[in-house]
Amino acid sequence: IRVAVVFGGRSEEHPVSCSTAASVLSAIDRERYEVIPIGITRQGQWVVVDDDPEPLRLRPGQTPEVAAAGTGVIVPMQVGDRALKTLEAGQPPAVLGDVDVVLPLVHGPFGEDGTLQGLFELADMRYVGCGVLASAVMMDKHYMKVVFEAAGLPVGPYRVITDRQWRSEPDAALARVGELEFPVFVKPCRAGSSFGITRVTEPTGLREAIEEARRHDPKVIVEQGIVGREIECGVLQGHGTDAPRVSEPGEIVVAGGHDFYDFDAKYLDGASVQLTSPAEVDDQVKARVQQVARDAFEAAGCEGLARVDSFVTPDGQVILNEINTMPGFTPSSMFPVMWAATGLDYPSLVDDLITLAME
Ligand code: DAL
Ligand code: MG
Repeated sequence: IRVAVVFGGRSEEHPVSCSTAASVLSAIDRERYEVIPIGITRQGQWVVVDDDPEPLRLRPGQTPEVAAAGTGVIVPMQVGDRALKTLEAGQPPAVLGDVDVVLPLVHGPFGEDGTLQGLFELADMRYVGCGVLASAVMMDKHYMKVVFEAAGLPVGPYRVITDRQWRSEPDAALARVGELEFPVFVKPCRAGSSFGITRVTEPTGLREAIEEARRHDPKVIVEQGIVGREIECGVLQGHGTDAPRVSEPGEIVVAGGHDFYDFDAKYLDGASVQLTSPAEVDDQVKARVQQVARDAFEAAGCEGLARVDSFVTPDGQVILNEINTMPGFTPSSMFPVMWAATGLDYPSLVDDLITLAME
């Protein structure tokens, strides 16, 4: 089976995607799969890269990046032909060979938002993970909440500020946000790995935080902070007509030095974060968290995989935070840890994802 592992990409999560790819390249079963690693540069050029995970690892002092190449460049779009094609500089496209399935390990816009998925649909290629609609809606924290609310799932209070609203009536936007209880989290609607997020403790900090979020996305969401534990679950599509499978919950505890689970805490300062799976929660809470995760996956029309992040309040309520349709698979990521705690080790997890995509 020939698997194209696609990673990098145009979003700010480029180095996280490289790190995810490094882990997958290290773990995938080489006897079953022939791997074609394809990097997308920050500019959007597709290149066939060396099958070597080491330079792709994200660690203090190493921010991995897909380098542009003069040769081995792929024309990503060949409608009506399953093959991806390579292009030697100045040469007509050469066929890379039939690819059986694509593993699109790209996080954020132009990867996790349905655009890449649309390309594979048009090219009639099988790929791992959610389709166009679920990817697009779950990339946008505003529409994600709209879908959850419509499905009767528990979400926290929030306000959205569109680009037009901020530019034409910022005071009205600030007044609406002021109705929330502080602290609040100001976030770009379409970003990931905590880029552009600020925790704001009083109204005077809002303007600056909104401007910061707008550097990442002109549409901003402000969420009321939830007092509670951060508990998440991995979800995998069932085989055939089986219900989605939900992992053991995992808990994230962020220690001193970080306001919240920010980029550095996530990927660079391993000592400051504790990931525990199975999370120590009582059976009732566990069942509720898992049910919310399963319902959210289905309400969003997810396929393949997702990680569903929730808060559990001190009185045991579950509040849905968000879905990530291509969660990180880095060494410090919760998704593979939760599946390992559920009895599915890393190579089996990758195997399962590919099998689902080929069903
Ligand atoms: N957006 C990052 C990759 C995650 O959710 O794991
Ligand atoms: Mg996210």
